[in-house]
Amino acid sequence: MRVLISQEELERRVAELAAEIDRDYAESDRLIAVGVLKGSVFFMVDLLKRLTVPVSIDFFQTASYGASTSPGEVRIRKDIDLPIRGKDVLLIEDIVDTGYTLRTILDLLRFRGARSVKLCALLDKAPAREVEVAIAYKGFEIEPLFVVGYGLDFDERYRNLPYIAVLDAGDSAAAVPSPS
Ligand code: IMP
Ligand code: MG
Repeated sequence: MRVLISQEELERRVAELAAEIDRDYAESDRLIAVGVLKGSVFFMVDLLKRLTVPVSIDFFQTASYGASTSPGEVRIRKDIDLPIRGKDVLLIEDIVDTGYTLRTILDLLRFRGARSVKLCALLDKAPAREVEVAIAYKGFEIEPLFVVGYGLDFDERYRNLPYIAVLDAGDSAAAVPSPS
């Protein structure tokens, strides 16, 4: 296993994202941060601890039916509990891969009448994208490698690593902070 993004890099970037979010929502008194379980939890906690604006939290949990049987179809396993009509929703996700999960959730949140919906994703595996998803706050762009740690798992393992690591080491791996 090879470290792709160190604990220090994560901390620095999360602090930058939190500062940006704090500025952008300074006038909002109705912000709800919605995390996608379980992968977003470590990122979400670190991010939200740094906010000074008032924020409520809630969670979705999703599952895909499987690429072979039902490509791109996402199942909502756990819905959010809070009403979101008229609220500013910040959706928080660990990684955007094909984009199907986020596309589905973003559409659902808008359909329910949120005042605004923006996505904050720690990692963007852009070359793997199959449906377009706008990422308002992006931590890092990475190559299409399988990564674990800081919430991300392989078969429910490695979530508690304090850094992001590549399971199958490849020579071309690189992570660069998103320019945004
Ligand atoms: P998408 O619908 O293809 O964008 O899938 C996103 C979900 O797939 C993420 O929320 C992760 O749970 C999972 N995923 C995608 N890439 C990775 C990875 O490299 N490591 C661990 N989980 C991943
Ligand atoms: Mg996930």
